[in-house]
Amino acid sequence: MSLSVDTVDIKNKIEDCKTFQEVESIRLDYLGKKGFIPLEMKLLGKLPIDQKKTRGQELNTLKNFIEENINDQKSYIENKELEKKLKNETVDVSLPHNESLNGKIHPISQTIFTIIEIFGSLNYSVEAGPDIENDFNNFSALNIPPHHPAREMQDTFYVNNMNEEDSVLRTHTSPVQVRTMMSSKPPIKIIVPGRTYRSDSDSTHTPMFHQVEGLVVNKDATMADLKSTLIYFLKEFFEIDNLKYRFRPSYFPFTEPSAEMDVAYTKKNNVLKIGEGDDWLEILGCGMVNPKVLENCNIDSSIYQGFAFGMGIERLSMLKYGITDMRGLFDLNLKWLDHYGFSPLDLKTRSEV
Ligand code: DAH
Repeated sequence: MSLSVDTVDIKNKIEDCKTFQEVESIRLDYLGKKGFIPLEMKLLGKLPIDQKKTRGQELNTLKNFIEENINDQKSYIENKELEKKLKNETVDVSLPHNESLNGKIHPISQTIFTIIEIFGSLNYSVEAGPDIENDFNNFSALNIPPHHPAREMQDTFYVNNMNEEDSVLRTHTSPVQVRTMMSSKPPIKIIVPGRTYRSDSDSTHTPMFHQVEGLVVNKDATMADLKSTLIYFLKEFFEIDNLKYRFRPSYFPFTEPSAEMDVAYTKKNNVLKIGEGDDWLEILGCGMVNPKVLENCNIDSSIYQGFAFGMGIERLSMLKYGITDMRGLFDLNLKWLDHYGFSPLDLKTRSEV
């Protein structure tokens, strides 16, 4: 090469670089706007034609050579840094267990585990669906047409989305009923614990909260089955054999007839006692699946019938574990979690509690 550069020297300089900054400074020296190669390129114009071509080729070869070496050195440095990072992050799994470093299971998670366990013992399986739903699944299929007052009751968060299909943050877990009925054939027996969203925030409401939905569809499901299932569930959940409860007629567009279930409570010295007394707490909504909903989901309502229910997990959790302010559940306060949380190493099953 007739250029007055020593390629071995350049290669060595690049390979001596220990950081990306060092590599970058060499790159600027040779390839940067005011670097060696661009300046030489500029001078090409002044050369006689016969030299221009060879000189141009030489410069291009040199440029490629430098680029290649720079890229190699960059990946070398990158690998070295990764190696160093991995070494620092090594976890010694043989270290003894340290009580003070224990995380805790959040009461909401614990409540969901308990609910799944109880319904699991009744052969329900667990389904899930996305938090961002389309209007059909969240409303229309559930017999809540546009302009129906139930849409306003639910203080919906609408999502500005490129995909017009997905338009709301689901206001309840009921859309997973629709998804399940559309994608599988009866008999269906599911619960759906999950996050739900409504534009509401005070001491008893948070914009994100949890519900669990239940759905049974077969040829002979009855209101009596629905009632006995829910009574069994609440007795197991609160661990109270003679739990006082009542069913009240209610209205939901997706069930007919519909009911709400209350449990009795008393308050003595500011302590709430569930299952007895003369005051009532609303716990859940339920009913026989409206035949219109079955039809909307392509299930023949002259052959199949079903029941459904839905309840708020926060309320169940607060009542079971004596939590008084709902906002504590989402404050991310470690002291709070230490008090109300559950040890991951101490997950008792119901029969052991
Ligand atoms: N989706 C209702 C709500 O969010 C709860 C509910 C009530 C669900 C009755 C049901 C049901 O499946 O049958 O308020």
